[in-house]
Amino acid sequence: MKQRYLPALILACSFIAFTACSKKDATPAAAESRVEYVVGADGAYAPFASENEQKELVGFDIDIMKAVADKAGIKIKIINTPFDGLFNALTQGDRDILISTITITDQRRQTMDFSEPYFVANQLIVVPQDSKVAKFEDLKPMKIGVQSATTADEAAQNLVGKNSPSVKRFESMPLAFQELEGGGVDAVVGDNGVVTNYVKNNPTKNFHIVSDPAFPKEYYGIAVKKGNQALLTKLNQALAQIKADGTEDRIYAHYFADQKQ
Ligand code: ARG
Repeated sequence: MKQRYLPALILACSFIAFTACSKKDATPAAAESRVEYVVGADGAYAPFASENEQKELVGFDIDIMKAVADKAGIKIKIINTPFDGLFNALTQGDRDILISTITITDQRRQTMDFSEPYFVANQLIVVPQDSKVAKFEDLKPMKIGVQSATTADEAAQNLVGKNSPSVKRFESMPLAFQELEGGGVDAVVGDNGVVTNYVKNNPTKNFHIVSDPAFPKEYYGIAVKKGNQALLTKLNQALAQIKADGTEDRIYAHYFADQKQ
């Protein structure tokens, strides 16, 4: 008679054990320690993110992200992702975190949450050495090259009109610079850090940088999915720590010591 109840008893016991076990695993601390956050970064954007010979991403953004993850006690995996696909990847849940010199804007704030700023930037104009361009306004009758979906893209549209064919969009900054070299565009507009780095490292292209004080300051933030407050809080605490303990300054000096901002 007793035998008949044994299977049921085993089942009941294992069920209790199972639920007890999964309850324990579901506690935030246990779950968090196993999670690996997937980070998206555009890897054609030296010195912020580029691929080394081993195809690993290296650069300012990458070092900042690693330092932040370290302080926050989270595991990360950084995946090279084209800039114009980043925001969608975050919304879809394919990426948990974005670090890609992303300027914090009100429009972007509608669809994602940003950390405190970790870098201050501004737009610069790149033209051939013999160009007469002296300010952004001068680009009005010209073909302007920008990286698609960036603040430069937005600035160019504001200058010449939303659907103007004179704004030429490229998937990456190197492609935009290539077009400038070939004469397909008259100027390229982009973030100061990447522009300065490119012009400095490609002296034979005879590019010239024009700065226009009319460009506003831009603040880079790390982005997370809208509403992911728990992760954002961790990232912000970690950012504050790397600012306070000199880690961020060290990373900055490593990449920008010789670059006048
Ligand atoms: N800061 C500019 C923006 O947010 C340009 C970013 C481009 N960054 C990149 N990694 N491709 O629109």
